[in-house]
Amino acid sequence: MEEKVEKTFYVTTPIYYVNDIPHIGHAYTTIIADALARYQRLKGKKVFFLTGTDEHGQKIEKTATEKGITPKELADRVVIRFKELWQRLNITYDYFIRTTEKFHEEGVQKIFQKLLEKGDIYKGTYQGWYCVSEENFLSEDVPLQPEGYKICPDCGRKAVLLEEESYFFRLSAYQKPLLDFYEANPQFVRPQTRMNEVVSFVRQGLKDLSITRTTVKWGIPVPGDPKHTIYVWFDALHNYVTGVGYDWNTELFQTFWPADVHLIGKDILRFHAIFWPAFLMAAGLPLPRTVYGHGWWLKDEAKMSKSKGNVLDPYLILEKVGPDPLRYFLLREIPIGQDGSFSHEGFVHRINSDLANDLGNLVQRTLTMVVNYFNGSLQEIGQEKEEDKKLARLFEETRDRVYALYDDYAINRALEEIWTYLNAVNKYLAECEPWKLAKIPETRPRLARILYQAVCAVRASSYLIYPVMPETAEKIWAFLGEQKKPGEVLTSELNFYDFRPDQKINRPEALFPRIDLKEFIGEMEKPKTEDYKASKLEAKMEYISYDEFKKMDLRVAKVLTAERVPGTNKLLKLQIDLGSEQRQIIAGVADSYAPEELVGKEFIVIANLKPAVIRGIESQGMLLAAEIEGKAIIPFFDREIPPGTKVK
Ligand code: MSP
Repeated sequence: MEEKVEKTFYVTTPIYYVNDIPHIGHAYTTIIADALARYQRLKGKKVFFLTGTDEHGQKIEKTATEKGITPKELADRVVIRFKELWQRLNITYDYFIRTTEKFHEEGVQKIFQKLLEKGDIYKGTYQGWYCVSEENFLSEDVPLQPEGYKICPDCGRKAVLLEEESYFFRLSAYQKPLLDFYEANPQFVRPQTRMNEVVSFVRQGLKDLSITRTTVKWGIPVPGDPKHTIYVWFDALHNYVTGVGYDWNTELFQTFWPADVHLIGKDILRFHAIFWPAFLMAAGLPLPRTVYGHGWWLKDEAKMSKSKGNVLDPYLILEKVGPDPLRYFLLREIPIGQDGSFSHEGFVHRINSDLANDLGNLVQRTLTMVVNYFNGSLQEIGQEKEEDKKLARLFEETRDRVYALYDDYAINRALEEIWTYLNAVNKYLAECEPWKLAKIPETRPRLARILYQAVCAVRASSYLIYPVMPETAEKIWAFLGEQKKPGEVLTSELNFYDFRPDQKINRPEALFPRIDLKEFIGEMEKPKTEDYKASKLEAKMEYISYDEFKKMDLRVAKVLTAERVPGTNKLLKLQIDLGSEQRQIIAGVADSYAPEELVGKEFIVIANLKPAVIRGIESQGMLLAAEIEGKAIIPFFDREIPPGTKVK
């Protein structure tokens, strides 16, 4: 394996179980990942951000049976919920992996086979207490109850005694290599307290791990021995490599693997900090740089659970305040490693004081003064005074500290630094009192200078805020008439004075309306039924007339040649025969079809669609396909048809 190319960043979230709809806990990890991904892109890095769903195993099988549907149907439904939530939270993942995807299943089987051949996996018999809900055999040290059974320490449910023929992973052989690895890589598990937990656990000795089940049907079959399915955690953990090209896109894999950081909840630390590196060592793959175990969100100090009915519904919060306040609150309130308690009071207070007051008012006041006093564009700016220079210097110091904190995944401290700075800007304005100077014509240059400093401070700070609150940053840029988009202003290029004084500023709108606590609590307590949520997923039907339909020139096309578009995973370049002419089209079907599979095939294209340039290549038409989970499935004909035949 080549050394990982510099200038890349690969971040992952856990893949979420599909037996439940997303809640605030899932949103938390995904928002952290998104903020880090956005920040790293601002640094000019090539970023890969992977999230997705964990769809196999007994728990999913059980929930699906209870609902009277197949596990795959259950997964298909819940995946929509996750994707919708990520969209509403402005999550910029690069790929959403589902463990039921073929390439993942094949990748896992390949690795299984490899370890089997190597002797790191062997066949034996397993007997142990198994928790159906956690998909996990309990560790041996869980005490037996007087009634003769064990209780799962994680969920409090009764475990069942299972004995079965099983394949084992030789985890015991990796105790020493793991301990050596932890010692050489003290940043592998963060925060430090979690690293200590892991080390002391591994020091106590590791037993071989049963990694197949005969009792579970809904799983990836063991290659060559299909009565066994692969244990859901062995399956799931490998998403981090299959999702980034392992065994299907060497270039992608070599560019991004090993991951820079796996973000996870502290409850799944052992899987990620012990099993996962051991699996990777066995497979001869490089190990991730960091596993960051974040804390647990509680509701008013209590654990959230469906039975208590205190699970926070992110949709409700989003409906009321939009994505940025939620993103801000979750990232600002606690350091990534600690537990946090979500209370409506705490949430509303933070939004009102930090967002509505400190940031919102600053932006509003500053820009409104520029519009009111200078018609939106500052002229004849006076000389810089010491306090003006101080504001610029303070920004530069803040910026460097904020970057160092983001680099260290200390997002809450980065936000603290930004807010300390915003308060310094508010103080500067309070002391300079531009609204008083506005009444004295002779002090106009001084007034312009003060406002210029404040505008520069607002603009520059917006780039620091962007990873956490992208919509807010974009609104500020729109007020400022800022031409550059993130990615164009790299972190290395962010300077206080990079704003042309005469740049026309637009009248700002309020960024964060103040929230009334009582009203907020009332709305949060409104129960939202499943039906309500489901109805929101349905698209509204809009009819078109037959005449409108007739405008489309649909034709049968035959594929002459097909090749991948370099640098993309989805696109194929096809030369097609349309009877009277040949054309080139670009089609996003590479997820489902290899180029050679398509040659000679016939399908329907819209021949009169305006040509478009996709990835620098002209596409003269579009083929029709069904889309399932982002993958295109082409409808083919049941007999051969002359190319160019009209379809109507
Ligand atoms: N499918 C496994 C992960 C496999 S990764 C290879 C899983 N899924 S999960 O849906 O149950 O949980 C996913 C993540 O959500 C976990 O990291 C868990 O810690 C996190 N959270 C679930 N509830 C949470 C809170 N209340 N607060 C913070 N995070 C919590 O585990």
